[in-house]
Amino acid sequence: MALLPIITAPDRRLKKVAIPIEDVDDEVRCLMDSMLETMYAAPGVGLAAPQVGDLRRVIVVDVARAGTDPTPICLANPEVIATSDDVSVFEEGCLSLPEQFANVKRPKSVCVRYRDYENKICEQEMDGFLATCVQHEIDHLNGVLFVDHISSLKRSMLLRKLTKIKKSAAHARA
Ligand code: NI
Repeated sequence: MALLPIITAPDRRLKKVAIPIEDVDDEVRCLMDSMLETMYAAPGVGLAAPQVGDLRRVIVVDVARAGTDPTPICLANPEVIATSDDVSVFEEGCLSLPEQFANVKRPKSVCVRYRDYENKICEQEMDGFLATCVQHEIDHLNGVLFVDHISSLKRSMLLRKLTKIKKSAAHARA
């Protein structure tokens, strides 16, 4: 396992469509382990492989509350196969858009098909915050960020702020 550097926006790699994996083998499990370690260290509740520069369809999530036992879920080739008509709104953030938050509306529950850590094909009903989180991470596999779901005015405001933060960080390092 290893801590992986997280790519922050704006970055072209975050806009790419990731490719499916064949099987969850030891190499993919190793990526999943490192992604979980990176996510917990950040700390965050979800991470997609493109955020660490790996353009394969792999995501990890853990929405357990602080102070309770961890409940990591690793998903390869995740696909939303059904969505509820009901929607819910959560304030979302993203490890690739540090310190930026916005309310995003998504289906309240979803059924997701994926390959798990053992390479088994699973179908799981998800609801509430877990459903939101998994939809947010699947978006990353399609080059979509949560800011793509908000008004273009708010989006350009957030992205301008991020560009500024990135520039001043680069100056600080120079
Ligand atoms: Ni994100």
